[in-house]
Amino acid sequence: MNKLTLTTLAVLAIILLSFHKLDRGIDPKYQSIEDLKKAYMVDSKNWPAALVDSTAVYTPLTALPSAPVISVKDQGKLELGKILFFDPRLSSSDKISCASCHIPSKNWADKNPLAIGHDSLTGKRNTPSIENVWIQKELFWDGRANSLQQQQIMSIENHVEMFQSTKTLALKIQKIKGYEILFKKAYGSRQITLDRILDAIALFQTTIVSKTSAFDRFINGDYQSLSDNQIHGLHLFRTKARCINCHNGPYFTDLQYHNQGFTFYKRKREDLGRYNITKLPEDVGKFKTPGLRNVINTGPWFHQGIFPNIQSVISMYNIGMNTPYRREEYKNDSLFPVTSKLLKPLNLTKQEQEAIIEFLHGLSSQTTTITPPVMP
Ligand code: HEC
Ligand code: HEC
Repeated sequence: MNKLTLTTLAVLAIILLSFHKLDRGIDPKYQSIEDLKKAYMVDSKNWPAALVDSTAVYTPLTALPSAPVISVKDQGKLELGKILFFDPRLSSSDKISCASCHIPSKNWADKNPLAIGHDSLTGKRNTPSIENVWIQKELFWDGRANSLQQQQIMSIENHVEMFQSTKTLALKIQKIKGYEILFKKAYGSRQITLDRILDAIALFQTTIVSKTSAFDRFINGDYQSLSDNQIHGLHLFRTKARCINCHNGPYFTDLQYHNQGFTFYKRKREDLGRYNITKLPEDVGKFKTPGLRNVINTGPWFHQGIFPNIQSVISMYNIGMNTPYRREEYKNDSLFPVTSKLLKPLNLTKQEQEAIIEFLHGLSSQTTTITPPVMP
């Protein structure tokens, strides 16, 4: 062979090799998917470092922590809370219960873009799943309630949800035969009060939790439980795709508020989110980061249910989400929404986007089968 053929061959080999890598589309730090897998098939403390910005509130991903244990003495309260959660008589029309929107078989969400409540009225926001809600100190997309009890008052009274005065609720429940005995079992006396109602439902909600997913089995050492593609997705999630900046910790949420660019400022759908609560200009259009366990089952997604399929969520993240154009008239408007600096164009290939979606599938667990309780 002469020099020229050798050079040509060498060049060809380099081209082929780089194509090979492109085809694999994995982090160039790794020679092959086998290499990348090896880096993850170890104690998660030794995984490749997550790429996290300095402004992120970061906790490492871990397996699902165990749920709070309900003591034997609270079993009566739990039973009562479950009945109340399913009882439509907590609404003024006697038609809508908590479970009408937080549907157990739909991962405690409802599959509608926006919630539909009293008198078939449509609310302004998407029903979030209430799985693992016990970990949260600030409830709702904008964090306006500081306890499960306070959250319930707001849902019960909301004219597009249950539209029931909480001033008269206890009296209404008292009139239903059979509840007194349940309150006695729960609290030791027959007295029916609003506090007891809210307290029992709150306790029931602490039992609404995700179950173990393939991801949990993987992180606990069963390295066959995620596919190659899912491990690739996990790596992207923690590095190039930047998800880890906000979706982190055991529940894949930092419990912080971020602006993703969907404030719909000065438009019909406008929702200023967290700003409505804090009145701080920097909070305009911020919403709480949702956890991602079982997220694959709870579409349509985002606070107004604007994403009908998961591909559209990921391709939107890929372009860095939405940055609203600031027209001249908003130049000096301190309330003009600003998209989070943690969001950036990602340059993910189609294959990489698919791997992330596959990984999200690995966060799902068996859906709850729950027998609706017998009503008094
Ligand atoms: C008409 C549908 C509907 C009904 C009925 C309803 N909810 Fe909700 N729920 C929603 C929507 C929508 C939100 C989010 C609203 C927001 O963020 O402004 C929500 C939010 C919540 C949250 C906060 C979750 C989080 O991640 O911050 C909890 C907890 C909750 N609901 C529990 C209940 C309970 C308990 C009841 C019954 C007393 C109830 N809901 C009745 C639709 C409903
Ligand atoms: C800047 C923080 C941040 C980053 C980075 C981020 N997210 Fe989110 N994510 C959020 C917030 C906040 C919401 C809710 C936004 C809303 O409803 O307006 C959300 C919503 C979602 C939802 C819909 C949840 C639901 O219940 O509707 C999915 C799925 C999701 N993110 C996945 C991802 C993936 C995958 C990545 C990486 C490609 C990612 N996120 C990156 C903060 C972030």
